[in-house]
Amino acid sequence: MKQAPEILKVLWDEAAIQVRVRELGAQITRDYERNLSETLTRNPPIAVGLLRGAVIFLSDLIRAMPIPVECDFMQIASYGKDSKPGTLQLVRDLQNSVCERHLLIVEDIVDTGQTLGHLAQKLTARGAASIRFCALIDKTARRRTPVELDYVGFRLQEDAFLVGYGLDYAEKYRNLPYIAALKPEAVI
Ligand code: PRP
Repeated sequence: MKQAPEILKVLWDEAAIQVRVRELGAQITRDYERNLSETLTRNPPIAVGLLRGAVIFLSDLIRAMPIPVECDFMQIASYGKDSKPGTLQLVRDLQNSVCERHLLIVEDIVDTGQTLGHLAQKLTARGAASIRFCALIDKTARRRTPVELDYVGFRLQEDAFLVGYGLDYAEKYRNLPYIAALKPEAVI
């Protein structure tokens, strides 16, 4: 695929992403096998993807997990990237009850942390048996709500605007097979 002129640099190419996703899948599988053992089949974990960015990561991740796993999706919208806590809106809820279920929350990127912070409270209140957080990218420069991530693909300290592999800018670039930083002048 020809690289768009708005791309500043590729941070993780397709091969690096695939290697890391397989490692995460193996690590999560080991942990669930160790902790849930014989209950895995009776009560499989649910991979909860956050629409829309996490869809591509989730679909690769669960195929790297050779254990029973269900999946479901939520969508939470925030009003503007610098919105204050409390301005999040649940656009789409899970289809099934999570009471007594083991949840693996799958995010493409954690930025300020407010989405995951909000979700942790909500799902804990619904009586989930356990909640683990998996983010492909942990971008810490603008963190405002502390979140404890159990699994992280890549860490980024600089405050770049990232696109690709599910991440968008104005709904573009989600289908790029790599993750790249946009040129600052391309972000209005
Ligand atoms: C992005 C990303 C996370 C959230 C992280 O979603 O997918 O869900 O922002 O930001 P935070 O840590 O500051 O809360 P976005 O709202 O852009 O929607 P999208 O998934 O449809 O791209």
